[in-house]
Amino acid sequence: MSKVTVVGAGAVGATCANVLAVNEVANEVVLLDIKEGFAEGKILDMFQTSALQDFDTKLTGVTNDYSKTAGSDVVVITSGLPRKPGMTREELIGVNAGIVKTVAENILKYSPKAFIIVVSNPMDTMTYLALKATGLPKNQVFGMGGALDSSRFRCYLSKALDANMNEVEGMVIGGHGDTTMIPVTSMANYKGIPVSDLLSKEELDKVVADTMVGGATLTKLLGTSAWYAPGAAAAYVAESIIRDQKKVIPSCVFLEGEYGQSDICIGVPAVIGKNGVEKILEVKLSDAEKAAFEKSAAAVRATNDVLKEIGVL
Ligand code: 2OP
Repeated sequence: MSKVTVVGAGAVGATCANVLAVNEVANEVVLLDIKEGFAEGKILDMFQTSALQDFDTKLTGVTNDYSKTAGSDVVVITSGLPRKPGMTREELIGVNAGIVKTVAENILKYSPKAFIIVVSNPMDTMTYLALKATGLPKNQVFGMGGALDSSRFRCYLSKALDANMNEVEGMVIGGHGDTTMIPVTSMANYKGIPVSDLLSKEELDKVVADTMVGGATLTKLLGTSAWYAPGAAAAYVAESIIRDQKKVIPSCVFLEGEYGQSDICIGVPAVIGKNGVEKILEVKLSDAEKAAFEKSAAAVRATNDVLKEIGVL
């Protein structure tokens, strides 16, 4: 029996719950929100698709009642405000830090063994906060930004290559910010062929630029931030844990010397399985990518420092 809780029934959380339910990733999916009746409503709507989509995942919607989340194997935290057009993810810290801290503490009370996947923005800092606030081991708390950014990278690469995206590999490391993420072009490939052999510098530069503003482009179009890809990315990470798939997923994990960094949660490739973050892979980066990673880590650290300034940590 497996149970996944998604906290926050907004567009991202509801999409994540829906993907988990339809794909029968867990036996039970609990969706929790602070707004009265909101999670119950979203869950009832999903339940009414179960005969159409042929799934029998148990679905539970609750208003702020964490006792219903008890014994969860995985908890996805999506709570907090999304960004508005023109905003950076970092600007959300003042509002979202308090929310994420409270959610993490409540989860810990009822599901001390749960693996916590953080989605709320600014994602790297919210992951660091959830890890510190719960005091849980580093394999148990991590963030999903790299799964999302890498999916965007692979999608844009496959479009530029006119190729099947399942045959295109690529990952994005570093922070989950418009200027902090690093699409690792040196390792991106199509069936093992380096993409730099197949795309011109201009084409590859455009893929990288489109990936980095993947979320911002959507925020501009939608008036709020995206949900299909972020929700599916969080479900993808949860599935790798529940089904012990041991997928290599760029994830926001706590580093202790890897990539020359310590006391920070930032995106690096990691093996995700039944023990959460099972291994961090240290891949060979180009000099430019190494320098970009250092810059990215400095920016994430500056956002983490705000947690102390506003008294949340
Ligand atoms: C995004 O990049 C919501 O941060 C998320 O779309």
